[in-house]
Amino acid sequence: MILVFLGPPGAGKGTQAKKLSEDMGFVHISTGDILREAVRKGTPLGKRAKEFIEKGELVPDDIMVALIEEVLPEEKSVVLDGFPRTVPQAEALERMLSKKGRKVDKVFLFELPDEEVVMRLSGRRTCPECGALYHIKFNPPKEDEICDNCGAKLLQREDDKEEVVKNRLKVYKEKTAPLVDHYRAKGILITLDASGSVEEVYENLKRILNEEGN
Ligand code: AP5
Repeated sequence: MILVFLGPPGAGKGTQAKKLSEDMGFVHISTGDILREAVRKGTPLGKRAKEFIEKGELVPDDIMVALIEEVLPEEKSVVLDGFPRTVPQAEALERMLSKKGRKVDKVFLFELPDEEVVMRLSGRRTCPECGALYHIKFNPPKEDEICDNCGAKLLQREDDKEEVVKNRLKVYKEKTAPLVDHYRAKGILITLDASGSVEEVYENLKRILNEEGN
């Protein structure tokens, strides 16, 4: 089964995808995480992607499609978090999957008002070592700014600064929101209220997946 998580920055796609992978064995593919890791290591991909990420712009489609082609597993259940983000990326994904006799099964649209996006992103902290996600108010670490899992010092993402967040929201509305109609027309779009607690959103997500016979 292939799921796509769609929605504005900070809506909780990564949080829910991590839970789904731990709980139900989905392979979690986060293009944002892959790109940030490449930037951190200074790989050729990271060098090309850095300037786009820092401004809150999208990395060009050809780079993203090649990246997904490399990491998509042949058979396992997958949750795609952050890809596709443009209609050309969605079309390339469909071509890629159809060659393997697969398809996108469901697309979850995470809905969250802009004010909450800003609140979630301004308080987000991530662990540079193990990738764990926190929020200073909604999901704080036990010890201030220290990762519960591995003890590393937590960081705020460069692109979570206010001006960049504003641009990410603008880019989402211009370039990614059109995917909603694209997937609605295919009859596979499911809207998810992302404004509840992490547990509430997850219960809802699982209930929908179970109801749909999975
Ligand atoms: P990416 O990393 O994908 O960023 P994003 O889509 O903007 O999403 P975020 O990771 O910011 O948010 P999220 O929805 O995962 O929320 P999270 O769970 O962290 O992409 C970054 C950049 O990479 C892009 O701007 C672009 O440059 C590039 N890029 C990536 N993919 C690309 C592509 N396909 N094409 C082109 N460029 C691409 O939650 C946010 C915070 O809220 C956390 O602190 C969390 O603890 C908290 N939280 C989560 N859920 C809840 C809840 N229910 N209640 C309270 N707090 C919550």
